[in-house]
Parts: sequence; structure tokens; C-alpha cells
Amino acid sequence: MFSTSSNKKIGLIDSGIGGLSVYQSLAETLPHFSYIYLADYAYHPYGTLSEEDLSSRVISLGQNFVKKFSLDILVIACNTASTITLQKLRNKLSIPVIGVVPAIKPAAENSKSGLIGLLATKATSKNPYTKNLIEKYAPNCQVISVGSHLLVQWAEAKIWTQNDPPQHNQGSLPPSLAIVKRELQDILLHEEVDMIVLGCTHFPFIKEELQSFFSVGVQLLDSGAAIAKRLQEMTGHLPRQTPKKTKTLAVFTANPNPNINFTDLEKRLKERFHIEELKLWQGEIENKTAKHLPTLHSFNPTNASKIL
Ligand code: DGL
Repeated sequence: MFSTSSNKKIGLIDSGIGGLSVYQSLAETLPHFSYIYLADYAYHPYGTLSEEDLSSRVISLGQNFVKKFSLDILVIACNTASTITLQKLRNKLSIPVIGVVPAIKPAAENSKSGLIGLLATKATSKNPYTKNLIEKYAPNCQVISVGSHLLVQWAEAKIWTQNDPPQHNQGSLPPSLAIVKRELQDILLHEEVDMIVLGCTHFPFIKEELQSFFSVGVQLLDSGAAIAKRLQEMTGHLPRQTPKKTKTLAVFTANPNPNINFTDLEKRLKERFHIEELKLWQGEIENKTAKHLPTLHSFNPTNASKIL
């Protein structure tokens, strides 16, 4: 049985900033816990990796993360990684592992029309776990799935480059209305859709923008509050009003944007998420199958003053 007495050290993993939407819900509800946030930018985006590569990466990274930081609970703050690796990871670890999966159940319970949209990564939108979730919890609904990498990029760009001068703001993000409309068209074609599941933890960061494509009655649902509730139940700790006591550490496995230096990244995490410290950690991975995958921009060691 899980001990409920002391403070807990909670680790969260995602491929990038997405899991910070989950972190926000957890830190707001249970501010007295310690949190360590791991963004695996070396293998970002998870949604375009093969199941095999994603599993081997997340399983070895998850195991090393738990060991390195002596975590009490691990939250896979990523729908793609959870729907593909959750069970395997639970089998390997002796601590509780909480997964984040698309909120199909509440969407089905609250939909009046029986037509639900699912916005996720391509991997999540088509994998067997998600299909089972739909069969089990929304048997009487029609679910229209859209798998999108563009929306993940948009959310990343919003956090890292939105207010940057043009030379820092790579590419054409935020995307034009026409491009987003095309991306969402399968759902937009069905006017009766009244619930849209945000089945990727990146999407709450562009929730307002996404909402503007749909009529006001359409509800966009994410899983943040449900995960906070799950953590609360698991630990037996009630939500607290107290201010956060411990520092939150963020750990990145590579730099999300080569145009932003380490100090700037840390400053943005502080301003936007009240995360006080950022470190570079390469995850001590011996991962043969995933070795050939392109690694994103490594930190310039002169910038990365804090290497674990
Ligand atoms: N945030 C992740 C999710 O919830 C995945 C984003 C990605 O790396 O593709 O699925």
C-alpha cells in the first residue's frame, strides 16, 4: 500500500512542453509536493516515432529518471507515450506510474449529439489503446479523430518563440488560419460535434486559439484536472491552498530551440511556469534501437552552465 504520510517527489515526462499543462494542474492542486519535469527534446516529437522506438526510449528514460531522482511517483504526461508504453513501464517499475490518456469517457458522458472530436498526435489517434478506449467508453458515439503534428509545433512555438523578434522566430508559426482549418477540417465538417477531446498534452496551450475555430457551445476537454484528482486519490492528500514550498526542477535532454540560449530558456520557464531551475541531462541512455534517430540541437556546453 502506498504511504500517505510524507511529502512526495513526483516526476513528469513528456517530449517537450506539453506535460507542463499537466504539471500546472498538479502544482495548483497539490502544491506541497516536489516536482521534477523532464522534457525529452532529444527525441521530440514522440508522435512521429515508431511504436518500437518510442517504447524503448520511454522505458529506458523512465527507469533512469526514477532512479536518478529517487522519485516516488512517475507521471507520463504525454498521451502518445502513455497509450503506447504505460503497461510495459508499470511492469518495469516498482513505484506507481500514472498515465495521461485522452478524455474520451467524460466527453462521451457529456456529449448530447453523440459526435465527438479527438485531437491528438497521429500515433495516439490511430493506436489500439485509443481504439479500445473509444469502444469501451464511447460505444454509442461517433468519434472523429484528427492526428496532427502541426498543432504540437504550434504549441511549442507559442511557448518558446511567440514574442521573439523574427530572427528568433523560426519558420511560419503561428500557422495561418487556412492551414489550421485544413488540419481540423474532418471535425469542422461535422457541425453536430459538441465535445472535442484534447488528446495531446501540448494542446491546452493553444486551447483558446483552437476554440476560435469552433462555435461557443463546443467544449474542449483536457485531462489535467483528472490527473490531479488521480494523484490526490493515490496519495491520500487533499488539495491545498498553501503556496508551493519546494523548488521545481526542469530537466531537458536537448535544446528545444537553438536560437534561445540556456539562460533564456530557464528565464522563460521561471516567468511562465514558476519553475526555478533548468538542467541538461542526457538521460544516460544505452538505447540501441533509437540511436539512429535524429537528435535535436544539443545544448552548446558554454550555454549549459548546469549539466547534471
Ligand atoms: N505531448 C505529447 C502527447 O500528449 C506528444 C507530443 C509529441 O511529441 O508528438 O501526446
